[in-house]
Amino acid sequence: MFIVAGAFVVLAFIGFIVMLMIQSHEEKPMFEMKTHFELSAEGQKGSEAFRLNGCTTCHRALRNGTNMGRTAELDGIGSRRTLQWIEAFLADPEKTYGAPTVDHGATPKRADYVAKIDAHTRHQIAVFLSELKSDPGSSTAEVPPDGRSEFIDSMVKTWAPADWKEKYHDVREKMPTADAYSQDAKETH
Ligand code: HEC
Repeated sequence: MFIVAGAFVVLAFIGFIVMLMIQSHEEKPMFEMKTHFELSAEGQKGSEAFRLNGCTTCHRALRNGTNMGRTAELDGIGSRRTLQWIEAFLADPEKTYGAPTVDHGATPKRADYVAKIDAHTRHQIAVFLSELKSDPGSSTAEVPPDGRSEFIDSMVKTWAPADWKEKYHDVREKMPTADAYSQDAKETH
């Protein structure tokens, strides 16, 4: 029993070492980064303000901060929301959300202070957030990768119950290209 378990640990360790060796010899990174950020000077200031104002206690951005959940993940927000939306949200969260919020909003909500940060700093933070983009197919994007993926096709074929095909439509058919999606996002958000 223990010998078998021990063998697994040793194998896992060897596998890890081999992976590190391969990784260090490859030119390309093994895991492609799907979220990216090219910060403008203003965005850079905003990223500092984001940290100084305690946003990272609840949010994740630049792959730093907490892992509380999907709403708290701000990497890629620039592909989902416009700068105007983000700025409006920070100033007047519930009205912009159109729904009750958990933390942003009037006192005694925990992020009530955000709306009281001065407008200039809030603008910088909004610029920073709007510059956090994600590529289609990343965990923070709402669109699947461009083109057909054999992997996704085979997973859907193997795991999706037959009646799903009637109940749900395939988002990949609704959004033919990622370009069309980002056009769309600009108009509707
Ligand atoms: C106490 C936790 C907390 C703090 C601190 C906090 N947030 Fe949030 N934030 C949330 C939660 C939770 C949501 C989801 C909306 C809600 O229910 O309030 C959210 C939503 C957002 C959204 C909208 C995301 C989306 O796409 O729907 C933005 C933008 C945002 N926060 C920015 C900030 C910034 C900038 C700061 C710092 C100045 C900050 N937050 C501080 C908890 C927090």
